[in-house]
Amino acid sequence: MRVQADGGDAHWWRRAVIYQVYPRSFADGDGDGVGDLRGVIGRLDYLADTLGVDALWIGPLYRSPQVDFGYDVSDHTDVDPAFGTLADADALIAAAHERGLRVILDFVPNHTSDRHPWFVEARARRDAPRRDWYVWADPAPDGGPPSNWTSEQGGSTWEFDAATGQYYLHSYHRTQPDVNWRHPGLRAAMLDVLRFWLDRGVDGFRIDALHMIAKDPALTDNPPRDDAAPNGADRQHPDHDTQWHVHDRMHPDLFDHIARMRALLDDYGARTGRSRIAIGEVEAMPWESWVRFLGRDLDGVHWSFNFNFLETPWEPKALRLSIEAQEEALPEGAWPNHVLSNHDRPRLAGRHGERSVRVAAVLLLTLRGTPTLYYGDELGLPDVAIPPECWRDPLGRDQARAPMPWTSEPGGGFGPPGGGEPWLPVPPEYRERSVAAQLADPDSVLNLYRRLLALRRRSPALLSGAYVPLEEGGDDCLAYLREAPGQVVAVVVNFGGDAVEVELPRPGRTLLATDRAEVPPGPARSGVVVPAYGGVVVELERAG
Ligand code: NOJ
Repeated sequence: MRVQADGGDAHWWRRAVIYQVYPRSFADGDGDGVGDLRGVIGRLDYLADTLGVDALWIGPLYRSPQVDFGYDVSDHTDVDPAFGTLADADALIAAAHERGLRVILDFVPNHTSDRHPWFVEARARRDAPRRDWYVWADPAPDGGPPSNWTSEQGGSTWEFDAATGQYYLHSYHRTQPDVNWRHPGLRAAMLDVLRFWLDRGVDGFRIDALHMIAKDPALTDNPPRDDAAPNGADRQHPDHDTQWHVHDRMHPDLFDHIARMRALLDDYGARTGRSRIAIGEVEAMPWESWVRFLGRDLDGVHWSFNFNFLETPWEPKALRLSIEAQEEALPEGAWPNHVLSNHDRPRLAGRHGERSVRVAAVLLLTLRGTPTLYYGDELGLPDVAIPPECWRDPLGRDQARAPMPWTSEPGGGFGPPGGGEPWLPVPPEYRERSVAAQLADPDSVLNLYRRLLALRRRSPALLSGAYVPLEEGGDDCLAYLREAPGQVVAVVVNFGGDAVEVELPRPGRTLLATDRAEVPPGPARSGVVVPAYGGVVVELERAG
């Protein structure tokens, strides 16, 4: 199956399972110890056939000093030499499309690297033509920063530029100056970046830090926050949550900028017969703010990542509330999702332990909405302990970015034989969980993911059915129906360490159980045993 025109299916992204490739860590094609695009091309058969996903989201591959591993872009129209060349990017898009895989690229609209030629020009002189493509402000009367805003990386968001006597804004690292979306020239240049990659064939963008791109032009101080709670995932910038971030993000202008991006994507879709999508990376709770990114007439992003599961205690009641909160918040016609992992957080198994791995697999692939699977989670990889002195990332997020173990050889088959030391260690326990080792074991986590993906693909209820909560299963279980016109499926996941016997609302046939590689066909039963730390998917008989 090739990706060509949609055949009128503008909603392909609702049925898709997206796989997040962290390009430094997925596969090293040239043996320098850093993952690259040739490496990804070599593993597309794994993604399309062995695993069976529909799209890959590839992290920023642009030319970059790599201070924030690509989220500090110094040239939007070239590929970083660590990852390959533009020709490699073209080859990757073509090879993915040949296999029916769509390609979603990271787009970083809030900032560039300080080495980007736009910023080099802007910082050279106060009257530089591109000066106002960035956010500059005079010092406060006491010579200090123009506002009290604190950055995601700790400390002030303002960096003093002695040569021109003004501060520039950086919501993230000081080498990542924020651009100024109020400037028409900057806006046009950013839309050109989208065009550049759309012309090369990408199917959409994951838009980084979208809530950040418009700020209060008066630079009003943020109000202090005295309920600042420690955030375990937030290891290096404890001061970030000492204030309410109300003026340094989410200015309403934002929604005009999003509408412009969406119009551009829709235009490409209409002209090429292949619809392109925008996924917002948005931190904008409460829900009323979060849904605004969808646009008043669903003319904003197609969906925004829902990070609530990352913050929710790993227990059925809390997760159910989170699922239902999203269902209630979504406007008519909008589409849900749940993020369980990504490159910014400890891995799922690191956060909640081994016991969460199979439960999470079932939730991710049976809840309503588009799943995004973080590379390596299909192997149940744990975090990697990396001492702070060895952190490669300024915020220490390395724990979830270790090289993908493909084989059980030393180095995990990350690069070609005889290749260089991987950029982060491949710990021994990773090798035991390699793709090769798990493919050989019918009961492995990887084979569970393969079964779930195959089941989802052929199940109308899982692809598009309504979500209906069930009370069955007691305190340790989370149970729900997925109801489509031709099929009703019951899902029960068990967070406890003992198997639980559950009575279903109607008799059904088990389609999948996390503790069995195969479920032989049998008569419909109304009782089902849900394995410890696992789950079942049961197709219910039609009602009366
Ligand atoms: C969110 C990205 O996921 C993260 O890795 C990055 O550091 C920030 N945005 C800044 O671009």
